[in-house]
Amino acid sequence: MSRFSLRTAFPRTPNPLSQAAAERQSRGLPLLDLAETNPTRVGLPLPDPDLLNPGAQRIRAPSHPPTDADGASLAASPFLYAPEPFGLPSAREAVAGYLSTRGVSVSSAHVVLAASTSEAYGWLFKLLCDPGDTVLVPAPGYPLLDVLARLEGVHTRPYRLPSVHGFGLDAAAVEAAIDARTRAVLVVNPGNPTGHFLHEGELQALADVCARHGLALLCDEVFSDFAWDTGTGRVTTVAGRPLPCLTFALSGLSKVAGLPGLKLSWLHVGGPTSLRDEALARLEDVADAALSVGTPVQLALSGLLAHAPRFQQALLERVKGNRERLVAARPEDAAWDVVPAHGGWSAVLRIPLQPGEEATCLRLLAAGVRVQPGYFYDFGGGAYLVLSLLPTPEVFTAALAPLVRELTA
Ligand SMILES: Cc1ncc(COP(=O)(O)O)c(C=O)c1O
Repeated sequence: MSRFSLRTAFPRTPNPLSQAAAERQSRGLPLLDLAETNPTRVGLPLPDPDLLNPGAQRIRAPSHPPTDADGASLAASPFLYAPEPFGLPSAREAVAGYLSTRGVSVSSAHVVLAASTSEAYGWLFKLLCDPGDTVLVPAPGYPLLDVLARLEGVHTRPYRLPSVHGFGLDAAAVEAAIDARTRAVLVVNPGNPTGHFLHEGELQALADVCARHGLALLCDEVFSDFAWDTGTGRVTTVAGRPLPCLTFALSGLSKVAGLPGLKLSWLHVGGPTSLRDEALARLEDVADAALSVGTPVQLALSGLLAHAPRFQQALLERVKGNRERLVAARPEDAAWDVVPAHGGWSAVLRIPLQPGEEATCLRLLAAGVRVQPGYFYDFGGGAYLVLSLLPTPEVFTAALAPLVRELTA
C-alpha cells in the first residue's frame, strides 16, 4: 500500500446536508438552491464571446497592445508563447488600469498574475511560510482558506470577528492569536459571508499589529466591488497605500467580472520598498515554476475588464433586490434576523439556537430549499444560516415562503 501525505487526508464522508440534498436530487424532487454562488448559472450578463476569439481581438486593437517583456508583439496569434512569470506586461497594465478606476495609482511592475486567487494564496504561503508555520484567518470566514493553507503544510489559527461590531475587525483579537510561528494575517474585505467592509481605523490598527510583529498582511478583495450602499471610511483596496507592513491585495476575474472559468487572478505587492522588492524577487521564482496563466485570457483581459462594470451593475441590482425581498418577508415578531451588512454576495441570518443550524437546514431541504449552516463558515456564539443572494428573483421569491414558514415553525 502506497503512503500518502497527511495533508491530503481530508474527511470524505458526506455531511448530513449533502446526503439529504443528493437523496432529494436522486428522487427527482425540485430544489430552490439558495446556496448557488456560480455567477455564470444565474442569468447575469456574460461578455461578448468574441473577446476570446483571436481574429476578433486583432480587429479590436486593444488599448495596451499585447507584447512580451521584450516588446515582441503577440497580437499575431494567441498560440505564440511568451513565458512571463508575472504575466504579459499588457495584461499587468490592464490590472493596474482597473485598480486606477478604483482611485489608486499602482505600478504594473508590482502586479503579479496567477490562474486563480486560490493559486495566488498557495504562492504566498510558499513565499512566507515554512511547513508548520501559521497564518491567522478570520472566523467566521471563507472555509477554503484552511484547505489552501493545509495543502502548503501551513496551519491556520482563527481570530474572531466580534458579532457585536457586525463582524468587524478587532485588531486586539488578531494580536492575541499571534504565536511564535505566525507569518501572516489574512483578511477578507468585505468579509465572506459577513459582507462587512474593513474601516480605515481597523486597517490602520491591523497594519500596525502586522508591522510590530513582522507579519505580512494578505487582503482578499474579491468582493470589494460589490457594495450595496455608500458609506464613508470604508476600505476598498489596500493596493497603493503606504502601509508599514508587507501587503498583498488579491482579486481576480472570478468575482470582478463573474468569470471563474477563465482562470485569471492577480495580486498587488505593496509595503516598505525593500520588503516589497524582496517579495517580488522571490515570487518571480515561485511563479516561474508554474507559468500558469494562459495566453488567450491574458490577451483578452482589457476587454474582459471593460465588461466588468456591466456585470457588476447587474449583480448589484440582483443582490440588492433579493436582500430587500428577504427583509420584507421577515415578520415583525420573527425570532430570526437578517444580519446587517454592506456588500458581498450573501445574506447571513441569525436564527434561534433551537433547533439549531443543521436541523433547520434539513427542515428547509425537506421543504425544497437549500441554504448553508453557519458552521460551514466557523460562526461562533449563536446559530446562523447563510443564503446566496445570486439566484434569480423568481427562485429567490419562491424560496422565501417555505423559508419564513420553517423559521417560524
Ligand atoms: C473570499 C474568496 N476569495 C477567493 C475566492 C476564489 O477565487 P478564485 O476563483 O479566483 O480562486 C472565493 C470564491 O468563492 C472567495 O469567496
